[in-house]
Amino acid sequence: MSRNGIHLLSKGLTIDLHKTAIYPGTFDPITNGHIDIIRRASAIFSRVIVTLAVNSSKATLFTTEERLAMLREATAGLANVEVAKFSGLVVEFARQVGATVMVRGLRAVSDFEYEFQMALMNRKQEHSLDTVFLMPDEKYTYLSSSIVREIARHGGTIECFVPKFVEDRLKAKSQNGQ
Ligand code: COA
Repeated sequence: MSRNGIHLLSKGLTIDLHKTAIYPGTFDPITNGHIDIIRRASAIFSRVIVTLAVNSSKATLFTTEERLAMLREATAGLANVEVAKFSGLVVEFARQVGATVMVRGLRAVSDFEYEFQMALMNRKQEHSLDTVFLMPDEKYTYLSSSIVREIARHGGTIECFVPKFVEDRLKAKSQNGQ
């Protein structure tokens, strides 16, 4: 039974789908694995904000504006997905947009310890913020942005890992010697 976004699974058990979820990351660049997670999140939550951490400790190949442009292009067909950026703490951003869920992708057991620590630290700071872990399709479990950048830099094939517009931008960067 479904009423006002509340799906009654059984007596006493409900899932409120009217929630804003954030999906934070560095996205340098966005990959098909990230897009897989965004699609799954957009099918579960009423509003998903994919948000770029601009003060990430990582040195990035793409500028903030380039990464935002790729995020916008990748999510253009998803009506309940927005793109934003934040600096500072992710919990602050969650408060500002009224999000109570943070989505993170879990690719393998090796992701777990870091994600577990981050989820608990974030909830310690903002008790209303829960982290929901989604698993991408298994064909993306070995995928990461840095691996894609590395393959592109050496002229390897990346077409099955990223959308065409990301592939073109990566190729342009490697032709410029970046
Ligand atoms: N498909 C492909 N790659 C994936 C993936 C997926 N589904 N899920 C994760 N990854 C990869 C990313 O490509 C990235 O690879 P890389 O290291 O080669 O670049 C890696 O997993 C992790 O990246 P990401 O998911 O972007 O997380 P992050 O560690 O770069 O960013 C933040 C984490 C930005 C969310 C976190 O640092 C943060 O919140 N910072 C703000 C400050 C803050 O509040 N800190 C307190 C945290 S407790």
